[in-house]
Amino acid sequence: MKEKIKALFSERFGTDGVFYASAGRINLIGEHTDYNGGFVFPGAIDKYIMAEINVNGTDRVRVYSADMDAYAEFGLREEDAPAEQWARYIFGVCRETIKRGGTVRGFDTVFAGNVPLGAGLSSSAALESCFAFALNDLFNDNRIEKFELAKIGQSTEHNYCGVNCGIMDQFASVFGKKDCLIRLDCRSLEYQYFPFKADGYKLVLLDSKVKHELVDSPYNKRRESCERVAATLGVETLRDADMAMLDAKRDQISDEDYKRARYVIGEKQRVLDVCDALERGDMETVGQRMYETHHGLSADYEVSCEELDLLNDVARECGVTGSRIMGGGFGGCTINLVKDELYDHFIATAKQKFNAQYGHEPVVIDVVISDGAHKCQN
Ligand code: GLA
Repeated sequence: MKEKIKALFSERFGTDGVFYASAGRINLIGEHTDYNGGFVFPGAIDKYIMAEINVNGTDRVRVYSADMDAYAEFGLREEDAPAEQWARYIFGVCRETIKRGGTVRGFDTVFAGNVPLGAGLSSSAALESCFAFALNDLFNDNRIEKFELAKIGQSTEHNYCGVNCGIMDQFASVFGKKDCLIRLDCRSLEYQYFPFKADGYKLVLLDSKVKHELVDSPYNKRRESCERVAATLGVETLRDADMAMLDAKRDQISDEDYKRARYVIGEKQRVLDVCDALERGDMETVGQRMYETHHGLSADYEVSCEELDLLNDVARECGVTGSRIMGGGFGGCTINLVKDELYDHFIATAKQKFNAQYGHEPVVIDVVISDGAHKCQN
């Protein structure tokens, strides 16, 4: 990827620059909890967005996306927002850095990536974190704190891309560490690294290829449901709610909102259970909670789809330890915790059954937990 970017950069801009990269993420458990002040348990993966960047001495940013073969150019003032949606991720990061008092000047860049798009692996967070990290290094002597870099990415989604997301994806992309999952308390922003060495198991993703598009999607509606319930219960977020509180106000809450809140309250505890189980090496409990999460996301939060439910059913039938839909939902992939000796059988069965039903195979994505945003050796 680096060689390709290098060649394109020198061809287009006649010089060379500095390389930066940031990662996509998985999330073992803790879905739709981040914007509810709950816990998440993600890790960065070995799928990256990489950019070569050179300061160009102007007040314009010139961007070439190698994967899309598309070029955009924009200034750094609010009114300079580019029309191209993909370029707004970079424009947004520039603007959010400036809004926080950071410096950004013109630069040229070529970027590319291997984070599968629309699979729920947060390619957009990888892009934002790569540029937030780079602008901090190039123009701000790395004075902007890491949490702020994650928030720059999150605010880019809110203010320039139309997704009212939580902090998980950008956090994982910035803070990711090799072989570690990170439990983040999204209320206090305290976090803890958990070494993830599941000896005898593999983590594998099965991408349904069902389009996952959070912009204008019901994602924002899920968040609104949670906020409505929190307001009814008189708490800031659902982090501070429990089932007894929810049931006490049952008659003031719509059936739909009730189900959404029930899922979130359950998920909060499941993350803590999984972290404890992992420390004990109790993979059976980890897996059980993953199945429970899938059930909640499908039946109560209603962000699954037929294709992902099928993949989940196949995992269960094959005796896979844990399986669930991962990420925002509405398509994307399942994450599966599979015993080594079951792996081949599971993958073959999932491919065969999915193909028989939908006419194509799910894409198998093996992941390794890796480092997050960084500057690359030139
Ligand atoms: C998307 C959002 C995250 C999070 C997940 C669901 O990935 O960007 O903030 O809410 O969905 O857990």
